[in-house]
Amino acid sequence: MSFGLSRGRPLEPGHAGLTWADLPTEPGVRIGPIYFFQLHRPEQPFDLEIGSGKGTFLLQQSSLEPETNFLGVEHAGEFFRYAADRVRRAGRPNVRLLYGDAVELVTHRLEDACVRGLHIYFSDPWPKARHHKRRVIQDASLLQFHRVLQPQGRVFLVTDHDELWHWYEAAAARHADRFARLDFNPPDSARPGEMVGSNFERKYAREGRQIRGMTLLRRG
Ligand SMILES: C[S@@+](CC[C@H](N)C(=O)[O-])C[C@H]1O[C@@H](n2cnc3c(N)ncnc32)[C@H](O)[C@@H]1O
Repeated sequence: MSFGLSRGRPLEPGHAGLTWADLPTEPGVRIGPIYFFQLHRPEQPFDLEIGSGKGTFLLQQSSLEPETNFLGVEHAGEFFRYAADRVRRAGRPNVRLLYGDAVELVTHRLEDACVRGLHIYFSDPWPKARHHKRRVIQDASLLQFHRVLQPQGRVFLVTDHDELWHWYEAAAARHADRFARLDFNPPDSARPGEMVGSNFERKYAREGRQIRGMTLLRRG
């Protein structure tokens, strides 16, 4: 499917974009930030955005927070290419995009305790009951988030979708032994009145939808 994002202009991810084929092929090998930021201060805190869309949060926040490395994971090819092209043109060494499934990355490829912040903004709600298993937040994915987060690491969740919000609340309650539920504080890059300032937030806010967020703080 084409979203017409490029408007005819070639999108060039260049060094800002990685694909699954760039990951190590040895079975069972897990990777951490050094793999994505070999050339740019791999020791810096490492944040992951699941479903980065057009990359607006990554671009905005990374310029205010150069001491953090950000990896956006996006499984829609056109959004991946669009966001990576933006990051390449902005010359942002602390941002990389990976083309692929973020839950797959976290579950099977990332090493323990390597992520400081996990950002999930306006995740697809998959409203039909038979599609709920495609939602990013599941019992199994929360266990994996807990594994890859550092002590005191955080999951940031924001949505405009009522039913998905209740899904998040129920999941947070079931996993209260692993995560403490806290309020959501907007990142510095959000404009006044915004929760995050991503593309979907700006679109949904214009439609007058209620937007809610929470933070899950890793216990232990
Ligand atoms: C509704 S859009 C929101 C994009 C962006 N976060 C924003 O707020 O503007 C959700 C995005 O998440 C991506 N996505 C959903 N599940 C994903 C997954 N498991 N791995 C990677 N990307 C995912 C979709 O392709 C889509 O681009």
